[in-house]
Amino acid sequence: MKNMLVTGGAGFIGSNFVHYILSHSSDVEKLVNLDLLTYAGNLENLVDIQEDSRYHFVHGDIRDRELVNRLFDEYNFDTVVHFAAESHVDRSIVDPEIFLTTNVIGTQMLLDAAKSHWKIHPEDKYSREYKPDVRYLQVSTDEVYGALGKTGMFQETTPLSPNSPYSASKASADMVVRAYHETFGLPVNITRCSNNYGPYQFPEKLIPLMIHNALEDKALPVYGDGMQIRDWLHVQDHCAAIATVLEKGRIGEVYNIGGNNEKANIQIVKLILQVLDKPESLIQHVQDRPGHDRRYAIDNTKITTELGWAPAHTFERGMAETIQWYLEHQKWTERITSGVYQQYYKNMYGKMNG
Ligand code: NAD
Ligand code: TYD
Repeated sequence: MKNMLVTGGAGFIGSNFVHYILSHSSDVEKLVNLDLLTYAGNLENLVDIQEDSRYHFVHGDIRDRELVNRLFDEYNFDTVVHFAAESHVDRSIVDPEIFLTTNVIGTQMLLDAAKSHWKIHPEDKYSREYKPDVRYLQVSTDEVYGALGKTGMFQETTPLSPNSPYSASKASADMVVRAYHETFGLPVNITRCSNNYGPYQFPEKLIPLMIHNALEDKALPVYGDGMQIRDWLHVQDHCAAIATVLEKGRIGEVYNIGGNNEKANIQIVKLILQVLDKPESLIQHVQDRPGHDRRYAIDNTKITTELGWAPAHTFERGMAETIQWYLEHQKWTERITSGVYQQYYKNMYGKMNG
């Protein structure tokens, strides 16, 4: 039976993952969700499982070494899945510092705790029989690879070349994870996924923001020409991929996770307007994001051929279900877009109409 630490489990992907594990993994005895509940963390995402006796919520900071060590002592974790992060590129352009402390130093704190609680012998990693019963999984992003031109795809061997303070902090964290494996033999995996979509995403990100604005007949702010391409992955496919890596991934390996869905931003925005029966006149092209990556595309050959995972959602079905979810959860969106978020929105998009 497993004792799992999930960090950032009150955020978008983390809360979907907590749901996924509790409903799919009968070998998990305890799941501890450590989350600081920043603006992006929302316990409302987890109300339906709070009575589950396997689930424990801890309100705290991954950068709090004492707390993290205490949790390792108390729960005897054998698995760590690290989601907690500052995750929004636009915010990292305004204020990079918290991205470095949370995403890099926070990762190091978790690695240190794992290293000191899991009695690892660095030389074990060279053994053919190396099958540790503990594992640390770093949830990273395809953005660490930088931007692609019109052709090509990100492979696990693509050199890291991050362009935003966010992606630079995630790439730095990946390097530290790698170093703890190489130097201390810590049994790690790194997963690098493309843009996720689905329920519970904070409406500062493209898809929920555009749905929210369209429903309120507000302008839809498209950066630059809107021809930037992202490779969309349904969050439930992402959760299934992480569970697969935990179960079967080779120790020390990086796995890219992608949904084979390259779409230009403007296509997504138009699709949302069409489904919601709103006019394209709501689209407003605004100033482009500085250093805006033009195209991301994931080559997921390694995880599909080696571990047998494949995305189950088609983009059409996934988007239809996602739009429906936001339609049915407008109160959820209203609650989290009040207060502090409104100030952020004003600073970010203040000069726009609508
Ligand atoms: P999110 O912003 O929705 O959630 C982040 C969560 O981390 C929140 O619950 C927040 O409260 C928590 N958190 C932040 N700082 C913390 C701290 N110091 N201590 C404890 N908890 C803290 O993020 P998300 O979109 O769910 O992304 C999760 C992970 O996946 C991140 O590591 C992100 O880099 C990565 N990722 C996300 C995407 C995407 O499309 N959303 C794509 C690729 C990779
Ligand atoms: P986002 O959801 O912020 O994810 P990321 O920057 O991590 O890819 O943005 C997705 C794409 O949508 C990206 O190319 C930026 C663009 N975008 C807009 O055009 N307008 C917006 O208001 C936002 C938030 C994003």
